[in-house]
Amino acid sequence: MHSKIISAGHYLPEKALSNKELESLVDTSDEWIRQRTGIEKRHIAAEDEKTSDMAVKAAEMALKNAGLKGSDIDAVILGTTTPDRTFPATAVTVQDKIGMGDHGFGMDVQAVCSGFIYALSVADNFIKAGQIKRALVIGAEKFSNLLNWDDRTTCVLFGDGAGAVIIEATEDANTGILSTHLHSEGAQRDILCTDGGAGSTKTTGHVTMNGQEVFRHAVSRMSEVVAEALKANNITANDIDWLIPHQANKRIIDSTAKKMKLPPEKIVLTVQDHGNTSAASIPLAFSTAWNDGRVKKNDLILMEAMGGGLTWGAALIRI
Ligand code: UT7
Repeated sequence: MHSKIISAGHYLPEKALSNKELESLVDTSDEWIRQRTGIEKRHIAAEDEKTSDMAVKAAEMALKNAGLKGSDIDAVILGTTTPDRTFPATAVTVQDKIGMGDHGFGMDVQAVCSGFIYALSVADNFIKAGQIKRALVIGAEKFSNLLNWDDRTTCVLFGDGAGAVIIEATEDANTGILSTHLHSEGAQRDILCTDGGAGSTKTTGHVTMNGQEVFRHAVSRMSEVVAEALKANNITANDIDWLIPHQANKRIIDSTAKKMKLPPEKIVLTVQDHGNTSAASIPLAFSTAWNDGRVKKNDLILMEAMGGGLTWGAALIRI
């Protein structure tokens, strides 16, 4: 048994915050942000808009596109670092709001920017094990709540949003999720983290990052995991139709693409419009390309991400 992606949806908050607007908040410039990151704007959720609200909107779009109801879903696996509450899991709110009732289950997965790849891998393995037939896999973040808006080294980088895919069981081994590859290195946990948490400071804390160190790890770890995914499937980068990378920094994406000798036309790039939306970034990019018709049947897609933990991973998917 394998799993294949049958639908995708996404949601971005109404408010778009431009680099120019950020100039009045911190000592930064549109030019610096564009040159160093490729980001032009990011979306920021409204005060009363929760991670689950964005996740539900992305899920509803995916369900509508697939012609399915909430009760057709057996599991909601949600990657997030910004749950509505410390508990319960944000996924159970989604389960309720999309009308699953007590059917199936919902759970959150915490792997920061690699959250969607981890969630996809978890859902894929539930399907492979025969425990569920259909899953909603979501990445949703209200990352703006974790930012110190006085810290120009982090607050200009991130944004809010949600993306969702529906995967379902198939016996066709040549289609769907061909492989997933997950890694972490806990020794690097302090270079990208929050300075608080429920189990320590009793606060959520703010993001702190050693940008240059994270950049260095991102470039090498993502290249490694891309090579691993290609080797595991006995293919070369030439066979890839679309690279859908975590959207943290255009320079990191360009560097991975250069190592793969992949032309820019084969990369789905949304970082300029979304900023870094952590676990939401890959499903937001994927859903954008799925719904505008770029991603087509039989396309071979490589997703890859790296985030706090450090965590990193990849997924190779035949549509
Ligand atoms: O999603 C999880 C993974 N996260 C990432 O992949 C992020 C990885 N890191 C990066 O993307 C980059 O390291 C950054 C975009 C965060 C920073 O770019 P950089 O080229 O590594 O810049 P830097 O940290 O070396 O800083 C260069 C200069 C510094 O000034 P001095 O010391 O040279 O005078 C910073 O203080 O830029 C300054 N700076 C800023 N200037 C204007 C830092 N942030 C800003 C800012 N506006 N927002």
